[in-house]
Amino acid sequence: MKLLLPTFVDFFAGSGLVTQGVKHACALVWANDICPRKAAIYTANHGARHFHPGSIEQVRGTEIPQGDIVWASFPCQDLSLAGKMGGLAASRSGLFWEWLRVLDEMPVKPAVIALENVVGLLSANGGGDFRLLYHALRERSYKVGPMLLDARHWVPQSRPRVFVVAAHDHLDTSALEDHGPNWLHPDPVLKAIAPLDDIVFWAMPRPTKRPKTLTDLIDWDAPVFNEERAAALISLTAAKHRELLDKLPADRRAAFPGYRRTRHGKQVLELRFDDLSGCLRTAEGGSSCQFLLLHDAGEWKARLITPREAALLMGAPRSYKLSANYNESYNAMGDAVVVPVVKHLVDHLLVPLVLQDGIAIPTSKRASLQRMLM
Ligand SMILES: C[S@@+](CC[C@H](N)C(=O)[O-])C[C@H]1O[C@@H](n2cnc3c(N)ncnc32)[C@H](O)[C@@H]1O
Repeated sequence: MKLLLPTFVDFFAGSGLVTQGVKHACALVWANDICPRKAAIYTANHGARHFHPGSIEQVRGTEIPQGDIVWASFPCQDLSLAGKMGGLAASRSGLFWEWLRVLDEMPVKPAVIALENVVGLLSANGGGDFRLLYHALRERSYKVGPMLLDARHWVPQSRPRVFVVAAHDHLDTSALEDHGPNWLHPDPVLKAIAPLDDIVFWAMPRPTKRPKTLTDLIDWDAPVFNEERAAALISLTAAKHRELLDKLPADRRAAFPGYRRTRHGKQVLELRFDDLSGCLRTAEGGSSCQFLLLHDAGEWKARLITPREAALLMGAPRSYKLSANYNESYNAMGDAVVVPVVKHLVDHLLVPLVLQDGIAIPTSKRASLQRMLM
């Protein structure tokens, strides 16, 4: 039976934020991740029926139900600066090749593929890794269009990420393409595609809703560090940052996020002053959790960002179920994909592309089909 909603397969599904961003428009038929802690968060939120725990190395493409759209947020550690930049030849980001093997085994190929990763994907090995990925998809008869989206246009978090959307050659994609680069193609994309001659420039509208600020999302009642620990943290701020903090009007509520780093052998707390969170990361990436300096009722307080704040910064709904364990929740959010970014791609590009394949989606059928698949 052909489902009436486009079917969606979520590889490297983690704690389920990609699934969260697509489930209003697609039927989730299969998802996979190796991490049991993230899998627990995934299944608590989206059900276990379509979730298959385990390594991609054990997955056979013949076992996967047909997906109109296939998404793969493959591991980023070897493509990020915090990692060693081993790129697609290294063990973790190299799981891209395992995913490609699974794609090759699928009896019916997806109409549309979306890959997501850190910006380092465009520059690793002098751009050679991106070219390998591009040619791998071209050889399999997909038109390939990379883009860079920063989550700050949707949520108060600076989180630039690369999305590579590939549409099977048989689709007429002209209505969804631009003739040249647009807002989705800043310099790192242009540099990566310069040696490639048949790149597709996907077109999508810019988001129109102004995102909330970090201060809007703060839980002002969350427990804070004791005075001694707060003072020790504040003492790590650079003098020029302290001057800015000192200028704050006494009655102003404000939040300043920062990471603790070692610079020239000294510990410093590097703060942001733009009411955006820095990019959330996992502790695995080699960086610490994000701290917050909070100015409330004329007093300075300090604490770590809470898992719920991290989830809100990832655009997850307030009701999204997390783990009771701080590190598990924080790590699960740190390597996820921002929900409204996924939703924007789904609504303005991925589903419209699939519609070129002639799938009709009556809105009246959506809710019941979703329930059936949970
Ligand atoms: C960038 S994260 C994906 C996040 C996810 N898309 C989300 O929005 O929550 C990469 C994921 O790959 C998973 N992973 C790492 N090695 C894997 C393997 N061998 N097989 C399957 N999944 C793996 C990690 O557990 C992690 O959740």
